Amino acid sequence: MDYYKNFQTRLDQIKSEGRYREFLNISRYSEKMPFARDHKRNKDIILWCINDYLGMSQNKEVVKAFTTAAQNYGVGSGGTRNIGGNNYEVVNLEKELAQLHNKEAGLVFTSGYVSNDATLSTLVKIFPDIVFFSDESNHASIIEGIRHNKAEKHIFKHNDVGHLEELISKIDPERPKIIVFEAAYSMDGQPAPIKEICDIAEKYNALTYIDEVHTVGLYGKNGAGMSEKLGQAHRIDIIQGTLAKAFGTFGGYITGRRELIDAVRSNASGFIFTTSLPPAVAAAARASIKFVRQYDEGRKELHRKAMLTKQLLVGHRINIIPNDTHIVPVLINDPVRAQQASKMLLDQFSMYIQHINYPTVPKGTERLRITPTPLHSDEMIHELVSAIKVVLTKIKTQEEAA
Ligand SMILES: Cc1ncc(COP(=O)(O)O)c(C=O)c1O
Repeated sequence: MDYYKNFQTRLDQIKSEGRYREFLNISRYSEKMPFARDHKRNKDIILWCINDYLGMSQNKEVVKAFTTAAQNYGVGSGGTRNIGGNNYEVVNLEKELAQLHNKEAGLVFTSGYVSNDATLSTLVKIFPDIVFFSDESNHASIIEGIRHNKAEKHIFKHNDVGHLEELISKIDPERPKIIVFEAAYSMDGQPAPIKEICDIAEKYNALTYIDEVHTVGLYGKNGAGMSEKLGQAHRIDIIQGTLAKAFGTFGGYITGRRELIDAVRSNASGFIFTTSLPPAVAAAARASIKFVRQYDEGRKELHRKAMLTKQLLVGHRINIIPNDTHIVPVLINDPVRAQQASKMLLDQFSMYIQHINYPTVPKGTERLRITPTPLHSDEMIHELVSAIKVVLTKIKTQEEAA
């Protein structure tokens, strides 16, 4: 067996489908967001697709909390919580998260991915007969978590409450059930029908699990996410989120009732058998949450800028997926064209928007996903939209000439 030939064949296949991923080699400048240094091209570029939605990774109070904690406690946590014990900063962070979501308890993991995977794969240990209902557009970490637990699962059509009810109504009322969905889907920006899903959960006595990864910090009076904004948070059993996007740091978490959180803490392999979050990261995350809770101005600017970007794109007859969220998806509908557009924006205009191809989105729906932040100026947004127009027109002209 020529193992290495197989590795190369797989790579060649991905390349021939236009799906080969090349990562940019950049350094983001502190306090100069959205600028970064592109080390390959040796120039400064503007980032248009990062998920540091409010620029909190560079916020002075957050950086100060991080450096102070690193000076006091070092940079590593020293091991798993099981053996090394809880560190005080992580315990405080969990209290902060519980307060943010108005739940009894919180549990921190080393990433949002791990929190989904570890929690969802663990529930079957507590309810061996549980049935999962999962939105077809759910994130890879949710899919993996459900796959790992080998429980019975049903996939409902994206945001389709009718289909969810059709599936759930066929299951024995005595069996435990859980509905798993995202508050807003990051690749198309569509919010979930949270109230309607909670209604179904109530009617069929199912648990509810919401992923607020792309919404926490950005929606609701306290920035507790879409479920807070819609007044539904109290109806959700498990609110999951990340500390790495709007909060600008690192790590993931769940919040919920005390006995539920304690049961996950006591059973989840992805929690028990891995080194816990460093105290400095936990301190920075807590400082960020405190700041973001009050940061209405940042939320307002974020939404105004996303709206402005969409309006200008539509004004230039550029095809977007319409939505009411902060995500701006420009549809290209072809993997090679999407890659080409991304490269031209970077090479010719020093603007970075990573193209999104299969398997992140379905084939034929390839796109550029733009995430304007409060730190992008209106002028930058005007320049961005003009650049996209130029690039898409050039690609079309080249294709027609070929
Ligand atoms: C919907 C969703 N859930 C979970 C995650 C994982 O979060 P993290 O980046 O903190 O691992 C992501 C990451 O992009 C995501 O988009």
